[in-house]
Amino acid sequence: MENRWLADVLARPTPESVRFLGRTEVVDCLARIDVVAAVKDALVSHHHGRTILPSEAYLSWTNQHGAYSRSIGMPGAVLDQGDEAAYGMKIINASVSNPEFGLERAGGLGLCFDPRTARVTAVMEVGVLSAVRTAAVTAIAVEATGYGSVRSLAVVGCGTQARVHLALLLARCPELRRITLCDVRRPVAESLAGELVSRHPGVSFSVAATPAEAMADAEMTLFLTTVSEGYVRPDWVRPGSLLLNVSLGDLTDEVLTGASALVVDDVQLIVENPRRPLGRLINEGRIAAKARADRPSITATIGELLAGDMLSERPDTGYVVVNPFGLGILDVALFGAVLRRASSAGIGQVLELV
Ligand SMILES: NC(=O)c1ccc[n+]([C@@H]2O[C@H](COP(=O)([O-])OP(=O)(O)OC[C@H]3O[C@@H](n4cnc5c(N)ncnc54)[C@H](O)[C@@H]3O)[C@@H](O)[C@H]2O)c1
Repeated sequence: MENRWLADVLARPTPESVRFLGRTEVVDCLARIDVVAAVKDALVSHHHGRTILPSEAYLSWTNQHGAYSRSIGMPGAVLDQGDEAAYGMKIINASVSNPEFGLERAGGLGLCFDPRTARVTAVMEVGVLSAVRTAAVTAIAVEATGYGSVRSLAVVGCGTQARVHLALLLARCPELRRITLCDVRRPVAESLAGELVSRHPGVSFSVAATPAEAMADAEMTLFLTTVSEGYVRPDWVRPGSLLLNVSLGDLTDEVLTGASALVVDDVQLIVENPRRPLGRLINEGRIAAKARADRPSITATIGELLAGDMLSERPDTGYVVVNPFGLGILDVALFGAVLRRASSAGIGQVLELV
């Protein structure tokens, strides 16, 4: 059968195209952008209400290997970025069985939208950019909570995020001297430590057998695992330390409710997601969504700390938890910056749509 009538549809208006950027091109553009400054500006814009951050679309399933698999759609806009606002969307998919087959766990696409026509103007690979955005938030939170000059760091979970986080933190925290790595797959931690040793001869790298052992001596601990059940016990937490709960599932309820300060990126997104421990605790009324002196509560957002609206003091006895849910607007801000760079330097492939 041939659908001849489709020929009539091809009578077409103005040509339209989209710029496609693969990973190499995205990384090439990112290398020439101050990514931490771009993410920081977007966090401040968000604090001042100069962003649009709709709810995320979330689809999950179990694949044929029995592994948790999901797709998250994250649209957003940063209204005061450069001359024009940045509008776009991140689609980030992941399956926890991917590393067994030699694939990165997470991967996806970033889309830029034209503010005037609403058309998609760019499509880019997002794996590295997403990890760079997440690491930038961590670096900003470390500095905003007063931990920028720590000397010791533990990293629990040594996959893609750990690699990017360590590259950025080692560049931004020159006083870091001791890094302890831990992964359920010990060879993964050993191999990352081996790579880093040769590039950072002034820093000591070691591998711990358990998260408790890694945390014991560290002024801050970075969680980058894929667990869904909290396992970190309060007695493992070193007094005065910072816990960066990037993978969102590692801390037990006791550790979350016992923090002397709890810093987040966005309260609303956390409240809307009771499948994550902090969102569940807020929905159960065990942690208040606004700062209170009489019970566990969220102390501040990173945007508030950056805008100087809230003061965060590094505690001597308690500990601070940062729980960055992950904001699509920060990716969208980077998509905009990458596209500006790619367009001006002629990077990427221009694909004809119509
Ligand atoms: N909050 C955010 O903004 C944000 C953004 C991106 C990714 N993430 C999260 O970061 C986490 C890491 O992502 P990734 O891409 O690096 O994943 P990955 O699969 O590449 O690495 C995860 C590593 O954790 C290890 N691991 C799993 N369970 C462990 C445990 N109990 N103890 C020690 N190690 C353990 C795995 O062996 C693996 O090496 C994921 O949970 C992801 O959802 C959060």
